[in-house]
Amino acid sequence: MSHPRPERSLTLPDDGTVSPADLAETLSTTLSADLTDGLPSGLHDPVWPDFGDNDEAARRAVAAVAAMLGRPIPERPRDPRSSSEWLSRQWDVEESALVNVSRDMSRTLQRLHGYALQRWVERHQDDVAVFGPGGAPQRAALDLGNGTSVSVPAVATVLFPARSAYKTPVAVEVAYRYGTPTVTAFTPPGGLALAERVLADLTRTLEDEHPYRGGVLSARASTGAVELTPVKHTVQVRDDVVLPAELWREVDLFCSSVTTRRDALRALGHTTSRGLLLAGKPGVGKTKLTRVIATELAGPLTVVLVTAEVLRTWMTELYEEIRGLGPCLVVLEEIDSVASKGSRGDTSFAEFLDALDGTRSSDDVLTLATTNDPEALDPAVKRPGRFDTIIEVPPPDLAGRTEILRLFLPPRSPVDVGLVASYLDGATGADLREVARRSILEHGPDGLSTARVTDVATSGRWKPAPVAGNYL
Ligand SMILES: Nc1ncnc2c1ncn2[C@@H]1O[C@H](COP(=O)(O)OP(=O)(O)O)[C@@H](O)[C@H]1O
Ligand SMILES: [Mg+2]
Repeated sequence: MSHPRPERSLTLPDDGTVSPADLAETLSTTLSADLTDGLPSGLHDPVWPDFGDNDEAARRAVAAVAAMLGRPIPERPRDPRSSSEWLSRQWDVEESALVNVSRDMSRTLQRLHGYALQRWVERHQDDVAVFGPGGAPQRAALDLGNGTSVSVPAVATVLFPARSAYKTPVAVEVAYRYGTPTVTAFTPPGGLALAERVLADLTRTLEDEHPYRGGVLSARASTGAVELTPVKHTVQVRDDVVLPAELWREVDLFCSSVTTRRDALRALGHTTSRGLLLAGKPGVGKTKLTRVIATELAGPLTVVLVTAEVLRTWMTELYEEIRGLGPCLVVLEEIDSVASKGSRGDTSFAEFLDALDGTRSSDDVLTLATTNDPEALDPAVKRPGRFDTIIEVPPPDLAGRTEILRLFLPPRSPVDVGLVASYLDGATGADLREVARRSILEHGPDGLSTARVTDVATSGRWKPAPVAGNYL
């Protein structure tokens, strides 16, 4: 049945004289006709005139008048304030009967789940509905490194109607609960197992399509959690670093555990995780070597460079955080800061050992650590099983020193590098780099000769030690 819609205007005499009775009469007719008559009963959304800027106040005034006239206007439903209120309306169920399963996570992990959620949205573009607080879902940029980022839902609830994967409608929310980043799955009543499955599926989507996989990441501590961020990594190759051949063989063996020998290990029931500790005095090239390995493994593996702060306090969280990244190379530099004899008894020390042990039982995590002072390390760290291999990175021998000098002096310099190197017994790669640099600074790149470089090398001027003297 349809009703003719009456004229929607309210005419008052323009001489300003209108009796209250007339006004009431006019309003009554207009309001009842315009707002409540002609609407199917039960419809809670009357067609309101447009009151412009004064919308809210005008509506309240009109509603008050209508109530006085005995024709109360059904209350306009307000916008939902929360995702559960929104969902309860969408699904027409009591808010308290909604099922939700929520997971607290680090900000990075939450944002990454936002990335996975975005993937789902793209797959169901046409039939998802999105809710955000104040009516607007919030988005944030997920940094992918190399200057690129993607936009992902940051505070939003996405409703997926019943579709093939789930026969029931479900919703996923990324939000903050009391400040903690969370991801929540909602279902209509009775869907507890489904809600759990939805969260697990979302995590699987993240793991399958992880935007950080194969990259080089830095693990930093940030507001009480580990934050992974892609970093720019300078390519370093084996030719850039001069090390004994046995050392390269150990490095190859270490890497093969998750590359060439991985399947064989697995087939025989072995874990593929492995730990290699490089020990050697400062300047022998340990850091440089880790960067070469990082360059070689990035791609098939995700490389995680761990900062000192994470090393001290967040190791458990770190290994949690990298689950789902696939095979990883975790680089722990200068572990003496947490694992020296003096730190025994510290919680960070215990946690560090626990975290190392934890990786043993998992697969596909290569842990590459360095220490400047293997003597200072607590024996617990060196116990078999924590690191599979501990190798000493020695200062270069004569041949090594010769090669390193050649690396750092201008090509084709008329310098007998072998002779210069023979005066530098015990010097590290970093020392040799400084001898070369100092020579170039003193004599210019074209002014180098065997005598001049030998003079720099034997004078000790390249050493950073302060000039000694009786100036007290
Ligand atoms: N074996 C080496 N071959 C080539 N360069 C070296 C070597 N050892 C050190 N260097 C030079 O010295 C710099 C500092 O070395 P680094 O790797 O930081 O030493 P470590 O981490 O053992 O203290 C390197 O970036 C590199 O330029
Ligand atoms: Mg170093």
